[in-house]
Amino acid sequence: MIDLRTIRARLAQVGQDHVLRFYDSLTPAGQQNLLTQIASLDLESLPGLVETYVRNKPRAEVPTDLRPATYYPNNPDAASRPWDRSAAYRRGEDLIRRGKVGAFVVAGGQGSRLGFDGPKGCFPAGAVTGKPLFQVFAENLLGAKDRYSVRVPWYIMTSPLNHDPTVAFFRDHDYFGLSREDTMFFPQGVMPSFDIATGKVPLASKGEVATNPDGHGGCIRALHVSGSLADMQRRGIEHLSYFQVDNPVVRVLDPVFLGLHAGAPDSSAEMSSKMVPKAGPDEKVGVFCLAGGKLEVLEYSDLPPDLAKARNPDGSLTYNAGSIAIHIMGVEFLQRLATDPRFALPFHRAEKKVPCIDPESGEPITPAGNNGVKLEKFVFDALALARASIVYETDRVEEFAPIKNATGVDSVQTSKQLQTLRAARWLESRGVSVPRTPGGDPDCTLEVSPRTATSAAELPVAGLPKAVERGARLAL
Ligand code: UD1
Repeated sequence: MIDLRTIRARLAQVGQDHVLRFYDSLTPAGQQNLLTQIASLDLESLPGLVETYVRNKPRAEVPTDLRPATYYPNNPDAASRPWDRSAAYRRGEDLIRRGKVGAFVVAGGQGSRLGFDGPKGCFPAGAVTGKPLFQVFAENLLGAKDRYSVRVPWYIMTSPLNHDPTVAFFRDHDYFGLSREDTMFFPQGVMPSFDIATGKVPLASKGEVATNPDGHGGCIRALHVSGSLADMQRRGIEHLSYFQVDNPVVRVLDPVFLGLHAGAPDSSAEMSSKMVPKAGPDEKVGVFCLAGGKLEVLEYSDLPPDLAKARNPDGSLTYNAGSIAIHIMGVEFLQRLATDPRFALPFHRAEKKVPCIDPESGEPITPAGNNGVKLEKFVFDALALARASIVYETDRVEEFAPIKNATGVDSVQTSKQLQTLRAARWLESRGVSVPRTPGGDPDCTLEVSPRTATSAAELPVAGLPKAVERGARLAL
Protein backbone atom coordinates (compact mmCIF):
# COMPACT_ATOMS: atom_id res chain seq x y z
CA MET A 1 0.00 0.00 0.00
CA ILE A 2 1.32 3.42 -0.91
CA ASP A 3 0.83 5.94 1.86
CA LEU A 4 -1.35 8.94 0.96
CA ARG A 5 0.26 11.25 3.50
CA THR A 6 3.78 10.64 2.23
CA ILE A 7 2.75 11.18 -1.39
CA ARG A 8 0.79 14.31 -0.48
CA ALA A 9 3.81 15.75 1.34
CA ARG A 10 6.15 14.98 -1.56
CA LEU A 11 3.72 16.56 -4.02
CA ALA A 12 3.32 19.66 -1.87
CA GLN A 13 7.10 19.98 -1.71
CA VAL A 14 7.29 20.18 -5.52
CA GLY A 15 4.17 22.33 -5.99
CA GLN A 16 2.04 19.62 -7.61
CA ASP A 17 -0.41 18.56 -4.87
CA HIS A 18 -3.40 19.66 -7.00
CA VAL A 19 -3.26 16.20 -8.64
CA LEU A 20 -4.94 14.82 -5.50
CA ARG A 21 -7.85 17.29 -5.72
CA PHE A 22 -10.40 14.61 -6.69
CA TYR A 23 -8.80 11.82 -4.63
CA ASP A 24 -11.69 11.57 -2.16
CA SER A 25 -14.22 11.05 -4.97
CA LEU A 26 -12.40 7.95 -6.28
CA THR A 27 -13.14 4.31 -5.41
CA PRO A 28 -10.53 2.63 -3.16
CA ALA A 29 -9.07 0.88 -6.23
CA GLY A 30 -9.01 4.18 -8.14
CA GLN A 31 -7.24 5.84 -5.21
CA GLN A 32 -4.56 3.14 -5.15
CA ASN A 33 -4.10 3.37 -8.94
CA LEU A 34 -3.58 7.11 -8.73
CA LEU A 35 -1.09 6.81 -5.86
CA THR A 36 0.78 4.05 -7.69
CA GLN A 37 1.01 6.18 -10.81
CA ILE A 38 2.23 9.22 -8.88
CA ALA A 39 4.77 7.17 -6.91
CA SER A 40 6.24 5.86 -10.18
CA LEU A 41 7.13 9.40 -11.32
CA ASP A 42 10.38 11.13 -10.41
CA LEU A 43 8.58 13.85 -8.43
CA GLU A 44 11.70 15.50 -7.07
CA SER A 45 12.92 16.31 -10.61
CA LEU A 46 9.74 18.22 -11.50
CA PRO A 47 10.61 21.74 -10.24
CA GLY A 48 13.89 21.69 -12.19
CA LEU A 49 12.15 20.44 -15.36
CA VAL A 50 9.40 23.06 -15.07
CA GLU A 51 11.99 25.82 -14.66
CA THR A 52 14.19 24.64 -17.53
CA TYR A 53 11.62 23.53 -20.10
CA VAL A 54 8.24 25.06 -19.30
CA ARG A 55 8.95 28.52 -17.91
CA ASN A 56 11.88 28.79 -20.33
CA LYS A 57 12.35 27.50 -23.83
CA PRO A 58 15.89 26.19 -24.09
CA ARG A 59 17.30 27.21 -27.45
CA ALA A 60 18.99 24.45 -29.40
CA GLU A 61 22.51 25.84 -29.69
CA VAL A 62 24.11 25.13 -33.04
CA PRO A 63 27.72 24.12 -32.33
CA THR A 64 30.23 26.60 -33.75
CA ASP A 65 32.34 23.83 -35.29
CA LEU A 66 29.34 22.15 -37.00
CA ARG A 67 30.24 20.29 -40.22
CA PRO A 68 28.34 17.92 -42.47
CA ALA A 69 28.91 14.26 -41.60
CA THR A 70 30.89 12.02 -43.90
CA TYR A 71 29.34 8.73 -45.00
CA TYR A 72 29.88 5.53 -46.94
CA PRO A 73 28.39 6.35 -50.37
CA ASN A 74 25.80 3.99 -51.80
CA ASN A 75 28.09 3.52 -54.78
CA PRO A 76 31.15 1.77 -53.35
CA ASP A 77 33.22 2.86 -56.35
CA ALA A 78 32.56 6.57 -55.77
CA ALA A 79 35.81 8.50 -55.90
CA SER A 80 34.89 10.29 -52.66
CA ARG A 81 35.26 7.16 -50.56
CA PRO A 82 35.70 3.75 -52.20
CA TRP A 83 34.88 0.73 -50.02
CA ASP A 84 34.45 -3.02 -50.38
CA ARG A 85 30.74 -3.82 -50.60
CA SER A 86 31.17 -7.59 -51.01
CA ALA A 87 33.37 -7.83 -47.93
CA ALA A 88 30.77 -5.89 -45.92
CA TYR A 89 28.01 -8.12 -47.30
CA ARG A 90 29.85 -11.30 -46.36
CA ARG A 91 30.57 -10.09 -42.85
CA GLY A 92 26.96 -8.99 -42.30
CA GLU A 93 25.49 -12.16 -43.74
CA ASP A 94 27.72 -14.22 -41.48
CA LEU A 95 26.45 -12.31 -38.43
CA ILE A 96 22.84 -12.94 -39.45
CA ARG A 97 23.42 -16.64 -40.15
CA ARG A 98 25.18 -17.15 -36.82
CA GLY A 99 22.19 -15.65 -34.98
CA LYS A 100 24.04 -12.55 -33.77
CA VAL A 101 21.40 -10.05 -34.86
CA GLY A 102 18.07 -9.07 -33.28
CA ALA A 103 15.35 -6.78 -34.62
CA PHE A 104 13.99 -3.84 -32.66
CA VAL A 105 11.04 -1.62 -33.56
CA VAL A 106 10.11 1.51 -31.61
CA ALA A 107 6.33 1.55 -31.64
CA GLY A 108 5.52 3.58 -28.56
CA GLY A 109 4.72 6.86 -30.30
CA GLN A 110 1.24 8.34 -30.16
CA GLY A 111 0.89 8.66 -33.95
CA SER A 112 -1.31 11.70 -33.50
CA ARG A 113 -0.47 13.15 -36.94
CA LEU A 114 -1.88 10.09 -38.71
CA GLY A 115 -5.19 10.31 -36.88
CA PHE A 116 -5.41 6.50 -36.68
CA ASP A 117 -7.30 5.06 -33.76
CA GLY A 118 -5.01 2.31 -32.47
CA PRO A 119 -1.32 1.43 -32.33
CA LYS A 120 0.38 2.72 -35.47
CA GLY A 121 1.80 -0.73 -36.27
CA CYS A 122 -1.79 -1.92 -36.90
CA PHE A 123 -2.19 0.62 -39.70
CA PRO A 124 -2.96 -0.96 -43.11
CA ALA A 125 0.15 -0.17 -45.13
CA GLY A 126 0.60 -2.70 -47.95
CA ALA A 127 0.07 -1.00 -51.33
CA VAL A 128 -2.05 -3.88 -52.66
CA THR A 129 -2.84 -6.13 -49.72
CA GLY A 130 -3.38 -3.42 -47.11
CA LYS A 131 -1.49 -5.60 -44.65
CA PRO A 132 -0.60 -3.89 -41.39
CA LEU A 133 2.85 -2.47 -40.70
CA PHE A 134 3.53 -5.09 -38.01
CA GLN A 135 2.87 -7.87 -40.53
CA VAL A 136 5.26 -6.31 -43.05
CA PHE A 137 8.03 -6.34 -40.43
CA ALA A 138 7.16 -9.90 -39.38
CA GLU A 139 7.53 -10.95 -43.03
CA ASN A 140 11.05 -9.49 -43.04
CA LEU A 141 11.90 -11.91 -40.25
CA LEU A 142 10.10 -14.84 -41.90
CA GLY A 143 12.12 -14.07 -45.03
CA ALA A 144 15.33 -14.16 -42.97
CA LYS A 145 14.30 -17.56 -41.64
CA ASP A 146 13.85 -18.83 -45.21
CA ARG A 147 17.04 -17.23 -46.54
CA TYR A 148 19.45 -17.69 -43.65
CA SER A 149 17.86 -20.54 -41.64
CA VAL A 150 17.84 -18.42 -38.52
CA ARG A 151 15.19 -17.31 -36.03
CA VAL A 152 15.69 -13.61 -35.45
CA PRO A 153 14.28 -12.43 -32.10
CA TRP A 154 12.11 -9.34 -32.38
CA TYR A 155 11.85 -6.75 -29.58
CA ILE A 156 8.84 -4.47 -29.81
CA MET A 157 8.77 -1.32 -27.71
CA THR A 158 5.26 -0.12 -26.93
CA SER A 159 4.14 2.52 -24.46
CA PRO A 160 1.76 2.11 -21.52
CA LEU A 161 -0.81 3.83 -23.74
CA ASN A 162 -0.75 1.20 -26.51
CA HIS A 163 0.86 -1.88 -24.96
CA ASP A 164 -2.26 -4.01 -24.43
CA PRO A 165 -3.83 -3.40 -27.85
CA THR A 166 -0.45 -4.09 -29.50
CA VAL A 167 -0.02 -7.43 -27.75
CA ALA A 168 -3.68 -8.34 -28.46
CA PHE A 169 -3.18 -7.52 -32.17
CA PHE A 170 -0.26 -9.93 -32.43
CA ARG A 171 -2.14 -12.61 -30.49
CA ASP A 172 -5.22 -12.21 -32.70
CA HIS A 173 -3.03 -12.62 -35.79
CA ASP A 174 -1.14 -15.59 -34.42
CA TYR A 175 2.08 -13.54 -34.30
CA PHE A 176 1.96 -13.37 -38.12
CA GLY A 177 3.59 -16.78 -38.30
CA LEU A 178 6.51 -15.95 -36.00
CA SER A 179 7.23 -17.97 -32.93
CA ARG A 180 5.70 -16.49 -29.76
CA GLU A 181 9.00 -17.03 -27.88
CA ASP A 182 10.88 -14.87 -30.38
CA THR A 183 8.47 -11.92 -30.13
CA MET A 184 9.07 -9.75 -27.06
CA PHE A 185 6.95 -6.75 -26.07
CA PHE A 186 7.81 -4.16 -23.45
CA PRO A 187 6.48 -0.70 -22.65
CA GLN A 188 8.73 2.34 -22.59
CA GLY A 189 8.67 4.83 -19.73
CA VAL A 190 6.50 7.91 -19.46
CA MET A 191 7.00 11.51 -18.43
CA PRO A 192 4.37 13.71 -16.86
CA SER A 193 3.04 16.34 -19.26
CA PHE A 194 2.99 19.99 -18.13
CA ASP A 195 0.49 22.81 -18.45
CA ILE A 196 2.17 25.31 -20.75
CA ALA A 197 1.08 28.35 -18.73
CA THR A 198 1.52 27.15 -15.16
CA GLY A 199 3.92 24.22 -15.21
CA LYS A 200 1.35 22.19 -13.27
CA VAL A 201 0.95 18.55 -14.29
CA PRO A 202 -2.58 18.22 -15.76
CA LEU A 203 -4.99 15.45 -14.79
CA ALA A 204 -6.05 13.19 -17.65
CA SER A 205 -9.03 12.21 -15.49
CA LYS A 206 -9.89 12.52 -11.81
CA GLY A 207 -7.84 9.41 -11.10
CA GLU A 208 -4.97 9.77 -13.57
CA VAL A 209 -2.12 12.19 -14.15
CA ALA A 210 -1.53 13.20 -17.81
CA THR A 211 1.63 11.56 -19.09
CA ASN A 212 3.30 11.01 -22.45
CA PRO A 213 5.77 8.38 -23.68
CA ASP A 214 9.30 9.55 -22.86
CA GLY A 215 10.50 9.54 -26.49
CA HIS A 216 12.26 6.79 -28.44
CA GLY A 217 15.40 7.72 -26.50
CA GLY A 218 13.65 6.08 -23.57
CA CYS A 219 14.30 2.76 -25.30
CA ILE A 220 17.80 2.36 -23.88
CA ARG A 221 16.56 2.30 -20.30
CA ALA A 222 13.43 0.35 -21.25
CA LEU A 223 15.49 -2.34 -23.02
CA HIS A 224 17.40 -2.78 -19.78
CA VAL A 225 14.61 -2.67 -17.19
CA SER A 226 12.38 -4.94 -19.28
CA GLY A 227 15.07 -7.63 -19.26
CA SER A 228 15.40 -7.44 -23.06
CA LEU A 229 19.15 -6.77 -22.96
CA ALA A 230 19.61 -9.73 -20.65
CA ASP A 231 17.50 -11.83 -23.03
CA MET A 232 19.73 -10.77 -25.94
CA GLN A 233 22.83 -11.72 -24.01
CA ARG A 234 21.33 -15.13 -23.20
CA ARG A 235 20.63 -15.68 -26.89
CA GLY A 236 24.08 -14.47 -27.98
CA ILE A 237 22.68 -11.43 -29.84
CA GLU A 238 25.45 -8.88 -30.44
CA HIS A 239 23.77 -6.31 -32.68
CA LEU A 240 20.30 -4.85 -32.73
CA SER A 241 18.69 -3.58 -35.93
CA TYR A 242 16.66 -0.51 -34.89
CA PHE A 243 13.79 0.87 -36.97
CA GLN A 244 10.65 2.98 -36.64
CA VAL A 245 7.14 1.65 -36.91
CA ASP A 246 6.23 4.06 -39.70
CA ASN A 247 8.40 2.74 -42.57
CA PRO A 248 7.03 -0.33 -44.42
CA VAL A 249 10.02 -0.59 -46.79
CA VAL A 250 12.68 -0.86 -44.09
CA ARG A 251 15.13 -3.66 -44.76
CA VAL A 252 15.25 -5.08 -41.26
CA LEU A 253 18.24 -7.34 -41.91
CA ASP A 254 20.65 -5.63 -44.26
CA PRO A 255 23.91 -7.59 -44.56
CA VAL A 256 25.89 -4.68 -46.05
CA PHE A 257 24.87 -2.24 -43.31
CA LEU A 258 25.56 -4.84 -40.63
CA GLY A 259 28.93 -5.62 -42.17
CA LEU A 260 29.96 -1.96 -42.23
CA HIS A 261 28.74 -1.43 -38.67
CA ALA A 262 30.64 -4.45 -37.37
CA GLY A 263 33.74 -4.25 -39.51
CA ALA A 264 34.46 -0.80 -40.99
CA PRO A 265 37.82 0.49 -39.74
CA ASP A 266 36.25 3.72 -38.48
CA SER A 267 33.30 2.02 -36.72
CA SER A 268 33.30 1.08 -33.05
CA ALA A 269 30.35 -1.27 -33.77
CA GLU A 270 28.46 0.66 -31.10
CA MET A 271 25.88 2.65 -33.06
CA SER A 272 25.64 3.16 -36.82
CA SER A 273 23.12 4.93 -39.02
CA LYS A 274 21.62 4.98 -42.49
CA MET A 275 21.00 8.15 -44.45
CA VAL A 276 19.46 9.26 -47.73
CA PRO A 277 20.29 12.52 -49.52
CA LYS A 278 17.62 15.02 -48.52
CA ALA A 279 14.79 15.56 -51.01
CA GLY A 280 15.22 19.33 -50.57
CA PRO A 281 16.19 21.92 -47.98
CA ASP A 282 12.79 21.76 -46.27
CA GLU A 283 12.38 18.01 -45.93
CA LYS A 284 11.43 17.16 -42.35
CA VAL A 285 14.24 14.78 -41.53
CA GLY A 286 17.08 15.12 -39.06
CA VAL A 287 20.53 15.72 -40.58
CA PHE A 288 23.76 13.92 -39.70
CA CYS A 289 26.46 16.41 -38.68
CA LEU A 290 29.79 16.42 -36.94
CA ALA A 291 30.43 18.61 -33.91
CA GLY A 292 33.35 18.39 -31.51
CA GLY A 293 34.56 15.37 -33.47
CA LYS A 294 31.33 13.48 -32.71
CA LEU A 295 28.48 12.43 -34.95
CA GLU A 296 25.10 13.88 -34.15
CA VAL A 297 21.66 14.34 -35.67
CA LEU A 298 20.41 17.89 -35.82
CA GLU A 299 16.61 17.67 -35.87
CA TYR A 300 14.95 19.49 -38.77
CA SER A 301 13.34 21.98 -36.42
CA ASP A 302 16.79 22.88 -35.00
CA LEU A 303 18.67 23.29 -38.30
CA PRO A 304 18.89 27.05 -39.02
CA PRO A 305 17.36 27.92 -42.44
CA ASP A 306 20.66 29.29 -43.81
CA LEU A 307 22.39 25.97 -43.08
CA ALA A 308 19.42 23.97 -44.40
CA LYS A 309 19.67 25.91 -47.70
CA ALA A 310 23.49 26.01 -47.97
CA ARG A 311 24.86 24.36 -51.14
CA ASN A 312 28.16 22.89 -52.27
CA PRO A 313 29.83 24.20 -55.46
CA ASP A 314 28.23 21.27 -57.38
CA GLY A 315 24.74 22.40 -56.28
CA SER A 316 24.10 19.62 -53.77
CA LEU A 317 22.93 20.52 -50.27
CA THR A 318 25.82 20.96 -47.83
CA TYR A 319 23.82 19.38 -45.00
CA ASN A 320 22.49 16.57 -47.16
CA ALA A 321 22.64 13.45 -45.00
CA GLY A 322 19.00 12.96 -44.02
CA SER A 323 18.31 10.52 -41.20
CA ILE A 324 15.80 7.79 -41.99
CA ALA A 325 15.96 6.66 -38.37
CA ILE A 326 17.51 3.28 -39.10
CA HIS A 327 20.38 2.29 -36.83
CA ILE A 328 22.33 -0.71 -35.67
CA MET A 329 23.22 -0.69 -32.01
CA GLY A 330 25.76 -2.92 -30.32
CA VAL A 331 24.23 -4.84 -27.41
CA GLU A 332 27.36 -4.26 -25.32
CA PHE A 333 27.09 -0.53 -25.98
CA LEU A 334 23.46 -0.49 -24.87
CA GLN A 335 24.33 -2.46 -21.77
CA ARG A 336 27.16 -0.07 -20.93
CA LEU A 337 24.90 2.97 -21.24
CA ALA A 338 21.90 1.46 -19.47
CA THR A 339 23.90 0.38 -16.44
CA ASP A 340 25.89 3.60 -16.11
CA PRO A 341 24.32 5.63 -13.27
CA ARG A 342 25.45 8.86 -14.98
CA PHE A 343 23.77 7.96 -18.27
CA ALA A 344 21.01 10.36 -19.28
CA LEU A 345 19.96 11.59 -22.69
CA PRO A 346 18.84 15.23 -22.88
CA PHE A 347 15.17 16.18 -22.99
CA HIS A 348 13.61 17.86 -26.00
CA ARG A 349 10.62 20.13 -25.47
CA ALA A 350 7.51 19.96 -27.65
CA GLU A 351 4.36 22.04 -27.36
CA LYS A 352 1.33 19.81 -27.85
CA LYS A 353 -2.39 19.52 -27.24
CA VAL A 354 -2.88 17.63 -23.98
CA PRO A 355 -6.46 16.45 -23.35
CA CYS A 356 -7.19 16.87 -19.63
CA ILE A 357 -9.84 17.82 -17.09
CA ASP A 358 -10.52 21.23 -15.66
CA PRO A 359 -8.58 21.39 -12.38
CA GLU A 360 -11.53 23.08 -10.59
CA SER A 361 -14.66 21.49 -12.05
CA GLY A 362 -13.25 18.15 -13.17
CA GLU A 363 -15.00 18.59 -16.54
CA PRO A 364 -13.08 17.29 -19.60
CA ILE A 365 -11.29 19.92 -21.69
CA THR A 366 -10.59 19.41 -25.39
CA PRO A 367 -7.84 21.91 -26.09
CA ALA A 368 -8.18 24.03 -29.22
CA GLY A 369 -4.47 24.89 -29.32
CA ASN A 370 -1.28 23.69 -27.68
CA ASN A 371 -1.95 23.79 -23.96
CA GLY A 372 0.85 21.51 -22.83
CA VAL A 373 4.56 20.81 -22.90
CA LYS A 374 5.82 17.27 -23.45
CA LEU A 375 9.40 16.23 -22.77
CA GLU A 376 10.99 13.49 -24.86
CA LYS A 377 14.39 11.89 -25.33
CA PHE A 378 15.73 11.07 -28.79
CA VAL A 379 17.68 7.88 -29.43
CA PHE A 380 20.04 9.55 -31.87
CA ASP A 381 21.46 11.63 -29.01
CA ALA A 382 23.22 8.40 -28.03
CA LEU A 383 25.35 8.61 -31.20
CA ALA A 384 27.67 11.09 -29.51
CA LEU A 385 28.26 8.53 -26.73
CA ALA A 386 29.67 5.96 -29.15
CA ARG A 387 33.44 5.89 -29.47
CA ALA A 388 33.13 6.08 -33.26
CA SER A 389 30.06 5.96 -35.44
CA ILE A 390 29.56 5.49 -39.17
CA VAL A 391 26.82 6.57 -41.57
CA TYR A 392 25.88 4.57 -44.66
CA GLU A 393 24.04 6.05 -47.63
CA THR A 394 21.13 4.12 -49.02
CA ASP A 395 18.68 4.69 -51.86
CA ARG A 396 15.51 6.53 -50.85
CA VAL A 397 13.18 4.45 -53.04
CA GLU A 398 14.70 1.24 -51.71
CA GLU A 399 14.29 2.01 -48.02
CA PHE A 400 12.24 5.05 -47.11
CA ALA A 401 8.48 5.25 -47.61
CA PRO A 402 7.25 6.44 -44.21
CA ILE A 403 3.61 6.82 -43.26
CA LYS A 404 3.39 9.80 -40.94
CA ASN A 405 0.48 11.93 -42.13
CA ALA A 406 -3.11 11.19 -43.16
CA THR A 407 -2.65 13.03 -46.45
CA GLY A 408 0.05 14.82 -48.44
CA VAL A 409 3.78 14.37 -47.76
CA ASP A 410 4.79 11.09 -46.08
CA SER A 411 1.23 9.78 -46.17
CA VAL A 412 -0.20 6.35 -46.90
CA GLN A 413 -0.70 7.49 -50.50
CA THR A 414 2.94 8.51 -51.06
CA SER A 415 4.10 5.34 -49.29
CA LYS A 416 2.01 3.15 -51.61
CA GLN A 417 3.42 5.00 -54.64
CA LEU A 418 6.96 4.40 -53.38
CA GLN A 419 6.27 0.74 -52.63
CA THR A 420 5.01 0.42 -56.23
CA LEU A 421 7.99 2.29 -57.67
CA ARG A 422 10.44 0.06 -55.82
CA ALA A 423 8.66 -3.12 -56.91
CA ALA A 424 8.57 -1.82 -60.51
CA ARG A 425 12.34 -1.33 -60.46
CA TRP A 426 12.89 -4.81 -59.08
CA LEU A 427 10.58 -6.40 -61.67
CA GLU A 428 12.18 -4.48 -64.52
CA SER A 429 15.63 -5.58 -63.34
CA ARG A 430 14.28 -9.13 -63.80
CA GLY A 431 13.13 -8.42 -67.35
CA VAL A 432 9.43 -7.91 -66.52
CA SER A 433 7.78 -5.12 -68.47
CA VAL A 434 5.98 -2.63 -66.22
CA PRO A 435 3.51 -0.11 -67.70
CA ARG A 436 4.45 3.51 -67.07
CA THR A 437 2.55 6.79 -67.49
CA PRO A 438 3.89 9.42 -69.89
CA GLY A 439 5.45 11.03 -66.77
CA GLY A 440 7.35 7.80 -66.06
CA ASP A 441 5.43 6.61 -63.00
CA PRO A 442 4.32 2.97 -62.85
CA ASP A 443 0.75 2.73 -64.16
CA CYS A 444 -0.22 -0.09 -61.81
CA THR A 445 -0.05 -0.89 -58.08
CA LEU A 446 2.63 -3.29 -56.90
CA GLU A 447 3.73 -4.76 -53.60
CA VAL A 448 6.51 -7.22 -52.84
CA SER A 449 6.36 -8.94 -49.48
CA PRO A 450 9.71 -8.84 -47.67
CA ARG A 451 9.24 -12.58 -47.28
CA THR A 452 9.56 -12.84 -51.07
CA ALA A 453 12.46 -10.37 -51.37
CA THR A 454 14.03 -7.40 -49.61
CA SER A 455 16.09 -6.34 -52.64
CA ALA A 456 16.03 -6.76 -56.42
CA ALA A 457 18.72 -9.42 -56.17
CA GLU A 458 16.54 -11.54 -53.87
CA LEU A 459 13.50 -11.46 -56.16
CA PRO A 460 13.13 -14.98 -57.60
CA VAL A 461 12.73 -15.00 -61.38
CA ALA A 462 10.60 -18.14 -61.39
CA GLY A 463 6.89 -17.39 -61.45
CA LEU A 464 7.21 -13.75 -62.49
CA PRO A 465 4.90 -12.58 -65.30
CA LYS A 466 6.46 -11.38 -68.56
CA ALA A 467 4.54 -8.14 -68.28
CA VAL A 468 2.31 -6.35 -65.78
CA GLU A 469 -1.03 -5.16 -67.21
CA ARG A 470 -1.80 -1.45 -67.19
CA GLY A 471 -3.87 -0.67 -64.07
CA ALA A 472 -3.14 -4.09 -62.52
CA ARG A 473 -2.80 -4.66 -58.80
CA LEU A 474 -0.11 -7.25 -58.20
CA ALA A 475 1.21 -8.55 -54.87
CA LEU A 476 4.20 -10.89 -54.86
C1 UD1 B 1 11.72 11.01 -36.99
C2 UD1 B 1 13.06 11.59 -36.55
C3 UD1 B 1 13.74 12.32 -37.68
C4 UD1 B 1 13.88 11.39 -38.88
C5 UD1 B 1 12.50 10.87 -39.28
C6 UD1 B 1 12.62 9.81 -40.36
C7 UD1 B 1 12.59 12.11 -34.24
C8 UD1 B 1 12.48 13.13 -33.20
N1 UD1 B 1 12.84 12.52 -35.46
O1 UD1 B 1 10.83 12.09 -37.16
O2 UD1 B 1 15.05 12.75 -37.30
O3 UD1 B 1 14.45 12.09 -39.95
O4 UD1 B 1 11.85 10.23 -38.16
O5 UD1 B 1 11.39 9.23 -40.63
O6 UD1 B 1 12.50 10.94 -34.00
N2 UD1 B 1 8.38 6.68 -30.82
C9 UD1 B 1 8.34 5.85 -29.73
N3 UD1 B 1 8.19 6.42 -28.52
C10 UD1 B 1 8.08 7.75 -28.33
C11 UD1 B 1 8.11 8.60 -29.45
C12 UD1 B 1 8.26 8.03 -30.70
O7 UD1 B 1 8.43 4.64 -29.85
O8 UD1 B 1 7.96 8.17 -27.18
C13 UD1 B 1 8.53 6.08 -32.16
C14 UD1 B 1 7.30 6.20 -33.00
O9 UD1 B 1 6.41 5.15 -32.74
C15 UD1 B 1 7.90 6.17 -34.39
C16 UD1 B 1 9.25 6.86 -34.20
O10 UD1 B 1 9.55 6.78 -32.85
O11 UD1 B 1 8.16 4.84 -34.78
C17 UD1 B 1 9.33 8.30 -34.75
O12 UD1 B 1 8.63 9.18 -33.99
P1 UD1 B 1 8.06 10.54 -34.54
O13 UD1 B 1 7.81 11.40 -33.38
O14 UD1 B 1 6.91 10.27 -35.44
O15 UD1 B 1 9.29 11.17 -35.36
P2 UD1 B 1 9.29 12.01 -36.72
O16 UD1 B 1 8.91 13.43 -36.46
O17 UD1 B 1 8.52 11.30 -37.74
